[in-house]
Amino acid sequence: MAPFAADPTSFLVEGTARYGDVWAIRPRVYVVAGSELTREVFRRTGKGFDVLEGAFAAPPVERRARQQVGGHSAMALVRGLRPAAVHEKTGMLAAEAAALATDWPLDQEVDVLPQVNRTISRMGAYYCFGPDAPALMHAEEELARLRIELTHRYLYLPSWVPSPSRMRVYRCQRRLAGRIREVIDQRLAEGRREQDLLAAAMQASQEDGMRPGNRIAYGLATLMVAAQEMPTRATGWLMMELARHPQWADRISAEAVSLPENPAETDSTHLPRLRLTNAFVRETLRLHPPTWLISRSITAPTELGGFRLLPGDNILVSPYLLHHDRRYFADPDDFRPQRWLGPDNADHNPAYLPFGAGPQICRGAALATTEMILIAAMMAGRHRFSGHATTPYRLDAKGALTPAGLRLVCRRRA
Ligand code: HEM
Repeated sequence: MAPFAADPTSFLVEGTARYGDVWAIRPRVYVVAGSELTREVFRRTGKGFDVLEGAFAAPPVERRARQQVGGHSAMALVRGLRPAAVHEKTGMLAAEAAALATDWPLDQEVDVLPQVNRTISRMGAYYCFGPDAPALMHAEEELARLRIELTHRYLYLPSWVPSPSRMRVYRCQRRLAGRIREVIDQRLAEGRREQDLLAAAMQASQEDGMRPGNRIAYGLATLMVAAQEMPTRATGWLMMELARHPQWADRISAEAVSLPENPAETDSTHLPRLRLTNAFVRETLRLHPPTWLISRSITAPTELGGFRLLPGDNILVSPYLLHHDRRYFADPDDFRPQRWLGPDNADHNPAYLPFGAGPQICRGAALATTEMILIAAMMAGRHRFSGHATTPYRLDAKGALTPAGLRLVCRRRA
């Protein structure tokens, strides 16, 4: 067993270099590294390797409702987030990204994460709820703020502990789901059909022979929060790398010229033209994967990589570890978007897992990467980040990997 250190990311990297691909970080808590073993853990999710409920477990009533999001409705949510569905919303996403660039306060230090978070939340809300998004955004913002404020306080409490802070989050989750139910009822009463994720889930629910209600409201409330938490952090890192690499920002700006003057006219045919921007985003997610540590609990005696595991043991796998492992990426600590270009590009590297793998793989990967590509293109297209801010950011690894307190100065591109 190894002692703890202040920086958990370098602690993981150093521990793995020292003890190998499976090692105990605490009694009965094992770090699993290496691309094959990590993929095996992801693959075995739900088969003796269970997902922990985590810090923000839903209260039992909602957990049951969510589990009942039956066949067609659950599939509708997954289908509605596939690349083809995301592509249909490119115009809306581009318009939001352009508004972020237009409204960005220039020639002054700006706290990057809150600024970015507003846009990412809007993108997620409009994606899920179309014209009804404004009716829901306030409840979602309240929940998001509460989750950030309270994360560190009760991250390590078991999910059944009804601490006052957890009860506040539950109440807030219920309020958001309640608002979504009101929107559902309103749409049903008006016979209104929209082109969004909620409409797809409602239709699927009716195909299942059920009146849309509680079940999909809770599923969508969870999605709405997921749609802004990780992408906000990832976009924070993206902005930081744009500031650190002005020559790459210039190249991204040159590529952005291919986008239509009216951002709302951007469609999926424009995206393949943003090749360098795409490489830049992929490299950002490699160097700074927000979901850097993922846990599984063992529910039946088993074996992994020659190690015996018993019920109650916990496993930690880490996209960060893989992405910083020189067995899989040359000069892994360097930011080199070019590794995603050219014939030998890292596209099929099995160690690239910012969105996980297996049955629990991220449903929002296409949405998140499209948002990031469009934000990079719009921001670099219109502005230059003038180097580093005076206040350095703090690496926060307690929940997701976050450039906490990142502040940057933007100037209009001549
Ligand atoms: C850069 C942004 C994002 C990153 C890095 C990220 C990362 C991840 C990872 C690593 C997992 C797997 C967790 C595990 O195996 O336990 C996951 C799951 C998930 N993500 Fe994301 N995610 C991002 C954006 C999004 C967005 C935009 C949405 C929704 C629109 C979303 C919805 C989900 C959902 C629903 C799951 C759970 C899937 C399931 O339980 O079947 N994510 N995400």
